[in-house]
Amino acid sequence: MKIFIDTADVNEIREAASLGIISGVTTNPSLIAKSGRSFDDVIKEIVTIVDGPISGEVKATTSKCDDIVKEAREIAKIHKNMIVKIPMTAEGIKAVSILSKEGIKTNVTLIFNVNQALFAAKAGATYVSPFVGRYDDVSEDGMQLIYDIVDVFTNYDIETEIIGASIRHPLHIVECAKAGCDIATIPYKVLMQAIKHPLTDQGIEKFIKDSSK
Ligand code: E4P
Repeated sequence: MKIFIDTADVNEIREAASLGIISGVTTNPSLIAKSGRSFDDVIKEIVTIVDGPISGEVKATTSKCDDIVKEAREIAKIHKNMIVKIPMTAEGIKAVSILSKEGIKTNVTLIFNVNQALFAAKAGATYVSPFVGRYDDVSEDGMQLIYDIVDVFTNYDIETEIIGASIRHPLHIVECAKAGCDIATIPYKVLMQAIKHPLTDQGIEKFIKDSSK
């Protein structure tokens, strides 16, 4: 399973990239707003840090197919690694169908059921992003959604890659891996939580003590 970092904070991206295990970056309008910088500024810096797929989302207010397509073409021009993130709506799917024929890579986001994932894939999406945490938030089973999408995509040899998104804790990463999800996009805080284990820290402390005896 590939690991993407889910943030628009370039310091976090730099730190995570230095681990050597990060294959890509996902952002969304909320993460860009949180960074306090413009979309263009942040994205142009991110592409210099990570040499892999970088998802940049169309503006939250861009809802019509024609407008999505226009904006997507501009985002794709920023860098060869750009992936245009498009919300899962009928207009979004129309746009993905057009863009995929032009060779523009897309990540269909805000996926909450198998049909949405299947339709996005049929439109030619490069990635689909089912939101595990947000689905859990409404008392649904976010991980089951990942298992179901993996099942259906496997049945039909669908090439669209599945990004486990809205990851909230380390167990979500483990479950994504067990489900056969292609990618987990992980917030910096969760990535750091997942690296650590109290027994590792205790073990190191004991080795330090013992080696000084
Ligand atoms: C990534 O593609 C999503 O935008 C992100 O994982 C959403 O996470 P959240 O539900 O924690 O905001």
